[in-house]
Amino acid sequence: MKIAAVSDLHLDINRNYPVLRVLKDEVEKSGASYLLVAGDITEDFRLASATMKELDENSSFSVLYVPGNHDLWSPEPSRYKIDYIYSFFKDDERCLSGKEWVDGDVAFIGDVGWYDYSFGNHSRFTDDMFEKMSYMGRTWQDGIKNPWTRDNRRRCSLQLDSIENSLKRVKDKKIITVTHMLPIRDFTVQDARPEWEYFNAFLGSTSFGKMFEDNKVCYSISGHVHYRKEVEKSGVNYICPCLGYYSEWKFAKGHETDLLYHIRASLRYFEI
Ligand SMILES: [Fe+2]
Repeated sequence: MKIAAVSDLHLDINRNYPVLRVLKDEVEKSGASYLLVAGDITEDFRLASATMKELDENSSFSVLYVPGNHDLWSPEPSRYKIDYIYSFFKDDERCLSGKEWVDGDVAFIGDVGWYDYSFGNHSRFTDDMFEKMSYMGRTWQDGIKNPWTRDNRRRCSLQLDSIENSLKRVKDKKIITVTHMLPIRDFTVQDARPEWEYFNAFLGSTSFGKMFEDNKVCYSISGHVHYRKEVEKSGVNYICPCLGYYSEWKFAKGHETDLLYHIRASLRYFEI
């Protein structure tokens, strides 16, 4: 079975580019049976779900996805609370949150994941500082837009429990996990800017990677960080296939506005 994976399409921010059309054409040409989307589709849960449904129904491949932190932000905070939005995703058949998708001997599981500050630099910052979600004049937007951030560690623990329960239910299958948040430190921002020793705290949790390795997961797809990387660790193939914001494409000299280049650079394929 051939699988395609991508993340962080940000269809609203990238609205001036025909992301879905180019993505659909590329994945169809590859002959993949599934496209996995690891979150940050839009900033409106209704549009995220509708877009994945449309892509699934109008292509030669099946689409499975998880929400990202942006998909969980409320488009109308007074009307749609986080519990409603998360339940909406759990009820969406193409969304892996709270359920498993089994195809023969392959099982797809996943959810948004969350963060517990384990990727932050704890020799420089205290828990109280991480709880503020703000540093050097910059505020991590989940802290404003998602009430889950009032207790990030508990939310991360709930996500770990849910994914662990799924892992137990499909333990005899070849398992592919999809989380928006990062499962390994290798994918965090590794540059010299000191603020990332702080903001890496909000990118994921080491506990996801340990769980995936303990449960012999074959492939782990994640997103969130907008860097494209892959690494094999302890038998797990970790892939971070982010498209990211069009404004970040400027770092690829000569390809600043080349959507096809960035779709091809972010999409990853594997056989299982
Ligand atoms: Fe993103």
